[in-house]
Amino acid sequence: PLQAVIFDLDGVIADTAVVHRAAWERLAREIGAPFDEDIAARMKGVDRRGSLDILLERAPRAYGEQEKCELEARKNGYYVERIESFGPDQLLPGARDAVESVRAAGLRIGLASASRNAPLLLERLGIAPLFDYIVDAARIERSKPDPEIFLAAAAGLGVPPEACLGVEDAAAGVDSIHAAGMVAIGMGRREDLGEADIVLPGLIALRIADFVDNKNGATA
Ligand code: G6P
Ligand code: MG
Repeated sequence: PLQAVIFDLDGVIADTAVVHRAAWERLAREIGAPFDEDIAARMKGVDRRGSLDILLERAPRAYGEQEKCELEARKNGYYVERIESFGPDQLLPGARDAVESVRAAGLRIGLASASRNAPLLLERLGIAPLFDYIVDAARIERSKPDPEIFLAAAAGLGVPPEACLGVEDAAAGVDSIHAAGMVAIGMGRREDLGEADIVLPGLIALRIADFVDNKNGATA
């Protein structure tokens, strides 16, 4: 039976996928690296170093470790500058209701975001207390699509992975959910989320009752 729902944050709950993208795009411009839709899509859901490595694949020169750290810090500065002024208005439509309806259905709620800024962002959005367990991104070694982060969320919630639903807006995230043995709900467009078990335009369309069987617990 379904026992928990594990959410991604950027692009699922918060309108921040575009903010990450804009910050990377600015950095790309500054170092003369190309930036296009394909690069942006591949970066989605991927951790900070993984994203930088994608950006640098076609950079005009190679960068050493110390320089990479400097570039990451610069991008993060652009990102944090924007989210410092965020509030509940930057929740995506239906996000708060969706999380509350999951709780009302008696399920546990986890967060599996690769972002080290997730605690700051949840605080700004005013929804931090709704989560039973938030994965510490700094302790995750293998970026999505590896299952590590969703498995860590299930373990933190004390729930077996097969009793969890994962919610993601990125292809790498959907693959991570599946590798963890969970059902994947994709948020966005089917063409970006081909492997997802179900695709919804956003959390506003999530009806958790569709996944919970009142007699047996779950159908998912
Ligand atoms: C999430 C976002 C990515 C971002 C990553 C790391 O996965 O979808 O766009 O690159 O987190 O975020 P951070 O805030 O730690 O740089
Ligand atoms: Mg995301």
